[in-house]
This record gives sequence, structure tokens and C-alpha cells, in this order.
Amino acid sequence: MKNKIKILNKIKPFKKVIEVSGDKSISIRSILLASQAIGTSRIYNLLESEDVINTLKSIKKLGIKFKKKKQYYEIYGFGLNGYKTNSNAVINAGNSGTLARLILGLLINLKNSVTIKGDKSLSKRDFSRVTNPLKNFGAIIKSKKDGLPVKIKGSYYLRPINYFEKLGSAQCKSSVMMAAIKTPGTTKIKAKPSRNHTEILFKQLKLPIKITKKKNFDLIEINGVSEFNSFNYVIPGDISSCSFFIVLTLLSKNSILTIKNVNTNKTRTGIIKILNRMGAKIILMNKRFYKGEEISDIKIKSRENLKGINCPEKLNSSAIDEFLVIFLVAAKAKGISNFKNLAELNKKESPRLNIAVNFLKEIGIKVKRNKDDIKIYGNPNLNIKKEIKIKNYMKDHRIFMMSCIAALVLGGKFNIYDSNSINTSFPSFLKILKNIGAKIN
Ligand code: S3P
Repeated sequence: MKNKIKILNKIKPFKKVIEVSGDKSISIRSILLASQAIGTSRIYNLLESEDVINTLKSIKKLGIKFKKKKQYYEIYGFGLNGYKTNSNAVINAGNSGTLARLILGLLINLKNSVTIKGDKSLSKRDFSRVTNPLKNFGAIIKSKKDGLPVKIKGSYYLRPINYFEKLGSAQCKSSVMMAAIKTPGTTKIKAKPSRNHTEILFKQLKLPIKITKKKNFDLIEINGVSEFNSFNYVIPGDISSCSFFIVLTLLSKNSILTIKNVNTNKTRTGIIKILNRMGAKIILMNKRFYKGEEISDIKIKSRENLKGINCPEKLNSSAIDEFLVIFLVAAKAKGISNFKNLAELNKKESPRLNIAVNFLKEIGIKVKRNKDDIKIYGNPNLNIKKEIKIKNYMKDHRIFMMSCIAALVLGGKFNIYDSNSINTSFPSFLKILKNIGAKIN
């Protein structure tokens, strides 16, 4: 069958230096903000994956032009009132929750109604988490149940809101932040900490934002503006894409990997904190700052004697896209690992918590599940002997990539379907894996 790969052997020891492609969260945010700025923005090292291409197509639907140049993308913004559409325009967000949720915030003042639709996986995800606060600003929003499609008609008479973001969701927080810059007055957001790229970009763009750090949440206050200027941005490497190679190296024998120019913003490095607590020695080298974002080179060495972890819940949000590979490390570690309150993991491109539990059981690992908590009974001698088929996971890119890593470090004969899924976030994944030495048929 097309789109199926086979991995029949573990990876041999390697010593490599690699780079991964641009950060998806920052790529999508920078296009959306550039599309609302006044003037020409230039974005370098933009991630060229389906989620990001769909973001470019979406702004085009809204009348914003862009051009791909050799080194960068140029985006020609007309300001916060610059979107122009036919009535009943349809935007297809494909697989991207970030695009669909953030763009809804920017449509809050658009005269014509716009429908946001998505693929099968995205259509099933919860949108009431953003449409509820956006309705409070004054937009008219209609949807069937809580999923997509969602139809939004903006208002000229927006009012600022007070919003409590309790899920630790950066998409919800950012959707409201996007609406807040278009709304006169002060929008106040009390947010459980989550990735803060939107806050950092707002500061760089000199948008009026005030952040007060409280013990368990951030208080974010944003004043509406009438315009802001275009900008240039160089997108750093995506730590979520690195996570697969981090775990590959950690669980391989006698290997060393350096990954250069990665965004190591503290709201994203939960995986490094968790794995180092399990006995890894992952080092961030050459730390520097670029437009408020921390960038580093990450160095990883293979480790034996990894141990289980009682994972602090406060790290959940900063590792939310990385738990699938973190579970592989827990499966190989000595002792029991506990992960708590992972309900959000089942709200992703596929129900990842359910799929991970089934996967771990399939490879012979004891797992106990209690609602949104899981206990993984690690086995340092784990060595899969049987044939494993990975399919029916809603083409979730991260399940595909996690399965490849499992095959390369845990043994067994793996047949993994839907290799096309990597195009949503990391089209060069298999190429880099082969360059490190993986044999993939
Ligand atoms: C993202 C936030 C996270 C993450 C997603 C990207 C973002 O989702 O899982 O891959 O760019 O804001 P939630 O906001 O739903 O936690």
C-alpha cells in the first residue's frame, strides 16, 4: 500500500549534527500578524508544512497577498481593517487547530461572514472553547454542535472582555489576544501558563500588552490599537520536531546528536526537564535571545539506567505535544512513571492518550489508566520481537513519528501507515531520520 513504511531494524550508533525546520506555532502566528500589520513583512525560515501553507492560503482568501522569495516570504499587510472577502467566503484550515482558532480571533471585526472548515480530524475538535469568549466580544458565531464548520460575522461594536483560560491552552489564549488588539478598551485574560509566543510577538510589535505573573496563572492585559507596523522575523527550529530525535538518541546505543538553532522558550521545554529528571543529560548550549525568544543548540547522548518519573502536573502544558515520545522513555525506564491530568492529550489531532495506552500495551508494557492519569510500568529490558501494525490513528502526524522512533529503538518489525501525515508539521522528518542512519522501506 502507498503511504506505508516498514522499519525492520534498530538504528546503528550515530554521531550527527542536524537542524530541524521552523517552529510551527511561531510560523502560523507570524503570518497571521503580518497579514494585519501595515506594510511589507519578511519571514525567513518559515516552516513549509501543510498547516502553514493553509495559513498562507487563508490570508489570501482574506485579500492579503504574499510572495515566496528565495530566502523569505513577503506578506503585504493593509492593517487591522485590511481583510477583504466576498460574502460567505470559506477558509479551509485543514488539520490545523492553531490556524482555525487564532484566525477566528482576527475575524472578529469583519463585515462579511466567513466560514471556517477543516479536515475530518479538525472538524471533530472542540471550538466552543474559542467561540464562547469570541461571542462575548460581540461577534455572531454559529456552528453545529461544538466542532467545525464555524461561521463568524464580525461586529463594528466590539467590547473588551474578562476571560479565564483554565485549560492551559495557548490556542484559546491567543485567539482572545488576537481579538483584543482589535477591540477598544482593555481585555483582561487570566491564563493558566502555556506557550507564550503570542505575548512575546505582541511585545516585539510594540502592542500595548501588560503581563503580571501570579503563582498559578498569568494576568494579561491588552489594549486595542488602530494599527501596528510590519516586521521581519527569522523563525527558529521547532522543539516539538526535535523531540523525536531527542528520544531516538537517548534510547539508542552509543550515540550523540546536536540539534542547532532550536527555540528553547521555557514554555516549550517541558520535555527536556522531564527527561533530565529521568536521568538524561540533555544540554542547552550556545544560548542566545532573538526578539524575546530563547534559542539554543541541544546536545543529547544515549543513556542507560533511565528511571521512572512522577511527572509534576505543572509541566504538562510545556510538554503537551511531546508526551507520546516521553511515554516511550517511560516504557524503557526502570520503575513506574506517573503522569496526571492529561485530558488535553485526548483533544489533539487524535485522542492521543487513548492511542498511547493501546500502543504501550501492544508493545508489552503494563499501563494502568485512571481517567486522565496513567501509570507506566517501565521495563529496561524491553525488546520487541513481534510484528506491529500502526494504523487507524486519524492520520495524526505525531503518532506516525512516535511509531518510527519506537521501531528504531525498541526492535520489532513495524508497518506504519500514513507517512503522508508528516506533511502537516514536519515534511523533512523521514529524510533527516535516514540521514541519521535509519533504514526505512
Ligand atoms: C499550539 C498550542 C497547543 C499545541 C499545538 C500548538 C499553539 O495546543 O498542542 O500543537 O501553537 O498555540 P492547545 O492550545 O490546544 O493546548
